[in-house]
Amino acid sequence: MSDTGLVLKDVYRVFPGNVTAVSDVNLEIKNGEYVVFLGPSGCGKTTTLRMIGGHDDPSSGTITIDGELLNGVTPAKRPITTVFQHYALFPHKSVLQNVAFGLKMQGMDKAERETQAKAAIELVGLTAMMDRKPRELSGGQQQRVALGRVLVTRPKAILLDEPLGGLDRLLQLKMRVELRALQRELGITFIHVTHNQEEALSMADRIVVMGDAIVQQVGTPEKLARQPRNEFVATFMGDNNVLKGTIASASGGVIVIDTPYGKVEVEGTGNVGDESSMAIRASAVKVSTDAVPAINGIKVRLDFAEYLGDSVKLHMDLDGKPFMAKVHEERYAEIRAYEGKDITASWTREDGHLLEQ
Ligand SMILES: Nc1ncnc2c1ncn2[C@@H]1O[C@H](COP(=O)(O)OP(=O)(O)O)[C@@H](O)[C@H]1O
Ligand SMILES: [Mg+2]
Repeated sequence: MSDTGLVLKDVYRVFPGNVTAVSDVNLEIKNGEYVVFLGPSGCGKTTTLRMIGGHDDPSSGTITIDGELLNGVTPAKRPITTVFQHYALFPHKSVLQNVAFGLKMQGMDKAERETQAKAAIELVGLTAMMDRKPRELSGGQQQRVALGRVLVTRPKAILLDEPLGGLDRLLQLKMRVELRALQRELGITFIHVTHNQEEALSMADRIVVMGDAIVQQVGTPEKLARQPRNEFVATFMGDNNVLKGTIASASGGVIVIDTPYGKVEVEGTGNVGDESSMAIRASAVKVSTDAVPAINGIKVRLDFAEYLGDSVKLHMDLDGKPFMAKVHEERYAEIRAYEGKDITASWTREDGHLLEQ
């Protein structure tokens, strides 16, 4: 058997009325990877997941797992299972009965299904609660029952659509760690959909950023945080400033962009006179009362210094547009004194990052 993982090739989904929900998606997901689809509401995440799970089919393109074509195969016949957002547990059945239910449907005899269900329950750490009903469990434990119900069918991949969406923040943070630990232990592919950047960064081996029905960028969390490909990703990932202008010079692998706020330089190549844009991470921006440098610096008004515990986020105004910096929390008192005043924001050439147009 080949072991190529999940492959989406030239996948489109066009709904009646010519709504292109998913366009030209090409992805290769290795077995055992934790992949997060991240993007704003309506960008096609759920539709992509539904096509992988078999709840919908591509209008064109193919989906395969380990070389086996999945198009047209019903969800039950795919080695891929979806954990639905509302866990859909049977309220009157015990944890054990809930987990064993799918096996009962397959016609497995009682002793065998109990053995397998108990093994799955052990994997999700609920052995001590096997006889409880769902209402006697916390939200996180209910989610683990839902996972147990999926694991018992031994899928190659598990799909989760906004799995932490309904949970309060503390439970969300706990479940991030639990889900990730469980996935590592199982070694099964997880594909997790969210619109929450922080959740994606904290959990994924690789993030697939979707926007406007297409894949905008695929990469590790570090790659997306440090090297967003284009303005969409830079803006959506948050904590990036984007400056745009016209290329004034380009030589020796460095370009100078003339922006309405001054000249900025960044490593990369381009043609003089072309439109260009660059990103600077908020944490790379230095703020001071020094004179504005001739290059890679701007004057901005500090509107608000937001204390975040380990850092201070500076919300600044650049000619009506937001500009951000993030500094160490030790500077809070000093920085607050500048609220409502102009300050200098600057950065080094290495901290600028050229974006694709
Ligand atoms: N069954 C459907 N019929 C028509 N349009 C749909 C259908 N399902 C989703 N869409 C549209 O496809 C786009 C992507 O939806 P969806 O995949 O649910 O986005 P996301 O999960 O990223 O929020 C949206 O514009 C949505 O309105
Ligand atoms: Mg969705």
